[in-house]
Amino acid sequence: MIPVFEPDIGDLEIQAVTEALRRGEISGSFGSTIPKFEEAFTTFVGVKHGVAMSSGTTALHAAVSAMEIQPGEEVLVSASTNIATALAVYHNRGVTVAVDSEVQTWNLNLDQLESLITPRTKGIIPVHLYGHPVDMDRLMAIADKHGLWVIEDCAESHGATVRGRMTGSFGQMSCFSFYANKIITTGEGGMVLTNDDRLAERLRLLRNLAFTKPRFRHEVPGYNFRMTGYQAAMGLAQFSRIEHFIERKRWMAQTYNRYLADVPGVQLPPEMPWAKNVYWMYAILVKPEFGCSRDQLMEKLSQAGIESRTFFCPMNQQPFLRAQAGFREVPCPVADRLWLTGLYLPSSCLLTEEQIHFICDHVRRIGQGK
Ligand SMILES: Cc1ncc(COP(=O)(O)O)c(C=O)c1O
Repeated sequence: MIPVFEPDIGDLEIQAVTEALRRGEISGSFGSTIPKFEEAFTTFVGVKHGVAMSSGTTALHAAVSAMEIQPGEEVLVSASTNIATALAVYHNRGVTVAVDSEVQTWNLNLDQLESLITPRTKGIIPVHLYGHPVDMDRLMAIADKHGLWVIEDCAESHGATVRGRMTGSFGQMSCFSFYANKIITTGEGGMVLTNDDRLAERLRLLRNLAFTKPRFRHEVPGYNFRMTGYQAAMGLAQFSRIEHFIERKRWMAQTYNRYLADVPGVQLPPEMPWAKNVYWMYAILVKPEFGCSRDQLMEKLSQAGIESRTFFCPMNQQPFLRAQAGFREVPCPVADRLWLTGLYLPSSCLLTEEQIHFICDHVRRIGQGK
């Protein structure tokens, strides 16, 4: 089976983790590797502070928590995203309001955004889906006009840019994931980035059980969202190869695009003229002209030893969000369609041209009913 994703981990990572273990950096409270990883990554993105967390999910949770929303206050969130984005709002007792997707970029619809703002709206969490950035210049102008905070969900967009500027450098905070299938990985891990000194301090407090002085007397309820030292060591090793991973992703997408360009009924992933897409996953849509449905295509690919995965089930359809007090019904026809017709193909940086050719050949033949 060609897996949807396979991490690229080698001797560099193994050595870095081993050395961190030998230095005793097994927890999140000791050693210098965590601050080194935070500094390297924030320099890359162009933001002042980085606070490493135990996952992308906990990074988002801590970021929303640092904004201190009140129960029932609303946060606008891309409809098409991983559930972690909405969970950060839910567990902070806020209400997720789903924003439908744009036809062109599959990201949240910036023409629709303003019409969804109410007096209860406090912030926006845009997601740079599958590595294609949101037009953050436009989004920040809308947020600033209405006095809303912005937390960028960059779990899938390490290195993606908007008019040359890095995703993760626009909002008050941005959250990255270093899960196994992300552009760089620490196994499990995440980071919140911010230029705001006060928010950075708050995030560090929340991450570490909100310990202050005197120790063991707590002013606020914190979390244990600490990354471990050996994970940070792996992060640094992966970070030293980040440009290679990004180039490899872009090569993968160009190669897929070349082989799939003339397959009827396959819509290729977007890249707007102002954007650099890092193609976290190579995602396509199956249109009616294709010879069979998306589900049939996935089934036949699987029979041929090719793993694939559907797009996300949109936030407007999530049962526990719909059951929440204050839930707002917002139609999301585009996100609904993406969920039904989208899939991503194997997207590992280790893929060879032969494998991509093999996969595309199967997609073509399945579309022709062969
Ligand atoms: C858009 C998005 N946000 C958040 C997350 C959560 O990150 P993690 O798996 O590190 O908790 C993911 C992926 O896993 C994601 O794709």
